[in-house]
Amino acid sequence: VAVTCQWRGAFDDAELTRLHREAFGTEGSGDEQRRWGELLHAHSLGWVVARDGDALVGFVNVAWDGDAHAFILDTMVSRTHRHRGIGTEVLALAREHARLAGCQWLHVDYEADLTHFYEDACGFAPTSAGLIALSEPPWNT
Ligand SMILES: CC(C)(COP(=O)(O)OP(=O)(O)OC[C@H]1O[C@@H](n2cnc3c(N)ncnc32)[C@H](O)[C@@H]1OP(=O)(O)O)[C@@H](O)C(=O)NCCC(=O)NCCS
Repeated sequence: VAVTCQWRGAFDDAELTRLHREAFGTEGSGDEQRRWGELLHAHSLGWVVARDGDALVGFVNVAWDGDAHAFILDTMVSRTHRHRGIGTEVLALAREHARLAGCQWLHVDYEADLTHFYEDACGFAPTSAGLIALSEPPWNT
């Protein structure tokens, strides 16, 4: 069965929570199921769902400012389906729909080991970016 990618495709909270736990290594952490459906419909421009038959195998969330800027979050492909181009395809569909929605810029941040994926496979240009871990105590007040 071919993998199909769909912009704003249907999903349920349980399967997305499972994929997120697997992709970000938090299996068994006892995290509560996230209210993905409610949150995405309230805050996102859209998202892409990849399915192999009925199984959810890939996902990306496209957050935005309601105008020119869209932001890639939670890019994930299930372990059983990696290195088949699904991540690249999911990002390409996200990029196309952000463009169709009138966005001028698509942002993402990532760690150094994903440089090849985001820059070579998906076409992002490197830039400077900044990040603050808000759960940490301030070090410079
Ligand atoms: C990152 C991720 C989404 C990539 O999905 P994928 O479907 O395997 O990606 P693709 O098959 O389209 O990869 C295209 C190319 O990017 C590079 N690439 C993909 N995943 C990579 C990884 N984890 N590390 C380094 N390079 C990677 C490879 O060069 C790959 O080509 P190759 O398979 O011929 O070597 C997937 O590994 C994943 O879910 N990881 C865990 C969650 C995560 O870290 N998400 C990113 C948060 S910023």
